[in-house]
Amino acid sequence: MPHSKVYYGADYNPDQWLDRPDILAQDIELMKKANISVVSLGIFAWATLEPEEGKYNLDWMAKIIDDLYAAGVRVNLATPSGARPAWMTRKYPEVLRVGANRVRNLFGERHNHCYTSPVYREKVKQMNQQLAARFGRHPGVIMWHLSNEYGGECHCELCQEAFRGWLREKYGTIEAVNKAWNSKFWSHDYPDFSYIESPAPHGENSVHGLKLDWKRFVSHQTIDFMKWERDCLREIVPESKVCANMMYFYDGIDYFDMAKEIDLATWDAYPTWHKPTETIEDTAIDTAFMHDLYYSVKGQPFWLMENCPGPTNWQPISKGKKPGMNIFAGLQTVAHGGDGVLYFQWRQSQGSSEKFHAAVVSHDCREDNRIYMECAELGSILKEIAPVAGAKREKQAAIVYDWSNKWALEDAQGPRNKGLSYKHELLRHHQGLTQNGIDVQIINQDSDLTGYKVVVAPMLYMLREDFCEKLRRFVQDGGVLVVTYWSGVVNETDLCYLGDTPHNLTDVLGVRRMEIDAMYDGETRRCVTESDELPQVAHGSILCEVAALEGAQPLMVYDEDYFSGAPVVTEHAFGKGKAYYIATRLERDFYKPLYRLICEDVVSSCWPTHLPEGVHASARGEYVFLQNMTEAYVWAENLELAPYCMAVYKREGDALVLVYNQPEFKWSPIK
Ligand code: GLA
Ligand code: ZN
Repeated sequence: MPHSKVYYGADYNPDQWLDRPDILAQDIELMKKANISVVSLGIFAWATLEPEEGKYNLDWMAKIIDDLYAAGVRVNLATPSGARPAWMTRKYPEVLRVGANRVRNLFGERHNHCYTSPVYREKVKQMNQQLAARFGRHPGVIMWHLSNEYGGECHCELCQEAFRGWLREKYGTIEAVNKAWNSKFWSHDYPDFSYIESPAPHGENSVHGLKLDWKRFVSHQTIDFMKWERDCLREIVPESKVCANMMYFYDGIDYFDMAKEIDLATWDAYPTWHKPTETIEDTAIDTAFMHDLYYSVKGQPFWLMENCPGPTNWQPISKGKKPGMNIFAGLQTVAHGGDGVLYFQWRQSQGSSEKFHAAVVSHDCREDNRIYMECAELGSILKEIAPVAGAKREKQAAIVYDWSNKWALEDAQGPRNKGLSYKHELLRHHQGLTQNGIDVQIINQDSDLTGYKVVVAPMLYMLREDFCEKLRRFVQDGGVLVVTYWSGVVNETDLCYLGDTPHNLTDVLGVRRMEIDAMYDGETRRCVTESDELPQVAHGSILCEVAALEGAQPLMVYDEDYFSGAPVVTEHAFGKGKAYYIATRLERDFYKPLYRLICEDVVSSCWPTHLPEGVHASARGEYVFLQNMTEAYVWAENLELAPYCMAVYKREGDALVLVYNQPEFKWSPIK
């Protein structure tokens, strides 16, 4: 992947416009004017590419790729497996998905196929290889966009058999499965593998180990299908580079596993900017966490594969973006390690469900349309800051976010079934660190902790023995570990650990869990501290863990209820490092001072002085990005940052030299 630029582009679906050469010609002109350098082409074009079984029609695509190439626009060519033509489903019904209720879907929608079906895999192979043979070596084709937003699950007989095979491989014997799932409970013992069925609304839902393994299997099978697509391409063009677009906080696939199989991680972002219940900073923090996740899944620059330059059409309220917001979103991506900023989609569709979804070019087809103008402006800014492309991020702090843990945690049937909002817990720690200018990467239990100074394990309910060992060694060798309530409770098949918890960490943390109390929505418990560095009063919510001190120093304690006086935040020296424990979920604002205290002598901010409220700093290589996440003009050092605007600095020795100061995008309906 050449790193000479930040790629800028959109999903391009010219198959919807083949009868309008005037539109296709305008596309090229407007792409050039907006500095578009790449498009994801033909994501849902299967029916046009293969209108009848085995009859391929690729000439139109050849012309599009040539025309784009001549205009300097590169192609991220899609394999069209995200939606299939009608003829296929009539001839081969097995390609359609079966729901958890065991009913097979009809033709319709997209992403409606079985990842196991040999027929579907064969059809995909034929299609992908046609594309690879014709276009795989075209100089304009720089990347393959594998399918689209892989996801969902299928419960057909083929998938059930594949699940049983996966379990056989994992556990060896049925006895081992029964033990791992504690299936004696309610007499659920499985006499042999043939008895095992995926969870169903009218079937099994109480064997947590089964449900967890089903989720792992679905993730595995989806990735296996993706690998099949990739390898079909590579059979024809071995050097093919591939990417896949991942989705926000999507539950169904372990993206750490998926990322290992692709060359470039990408994700699709649809933040609800300007929500009355959130500040711009709140929305930006949520998005920043995701950028950091998608940087971290490969530890490499990622692309924002889709984002919307205006209102979407599918959110409960699809609000527009105020002038400047779209530019902010694009530049925030770059500040967090993005080397590509792309939209869904290039041109608004004329019909069907996404006809009102904004696109770079709107129905009015005008280049003085505000959305187009703002997109064009971002195109020229990305050109100016091109040298930042390729720059890596430093390892400072890591937050553990683990898919298996999420699956187990949310299905635990424990003290609070009304939702534990795991994401909110993660975001609090992320926010606390990033508001102090500390770089965060997201890791899972397979990750190597080398190089990090601080590791945070929020709600690590499922704690694997091997990861526990890594955490112990990390602190022993001088690292700083933060562990919260509801951590170290179960093993990797969701069996509760016997003995003291957090499992195998009580000596590291110097505390031992005794009880946990669940809070109703809005219910809190007062917490107090004598430390000058923390807010004097805070409030615990969601879950309040009651722990016994076993060597740790309390920094904050509960101040009400029968557990008044029990520790809320503790500090403990272990080996050459330190371990902190947090017994409950505190207010969001608590985490900035908390992490200032925790990180004080351990990691330093990428910004040398105090950051004004709502201004965030992040670093990539020698570049430091300062972003104003407020709607006001803000002074940072000697620079005035306009609302939503960013400045880029370059480290030169100890100094930070301003290399780019973004102009404010101004637009008014009144001429
Ligand atoms: C998803 C899909 C796109 C499009 C957008 C609309 O991200 O990948 O094809 O449907 O949503 O926001
Ligand atoms: Zn299936």
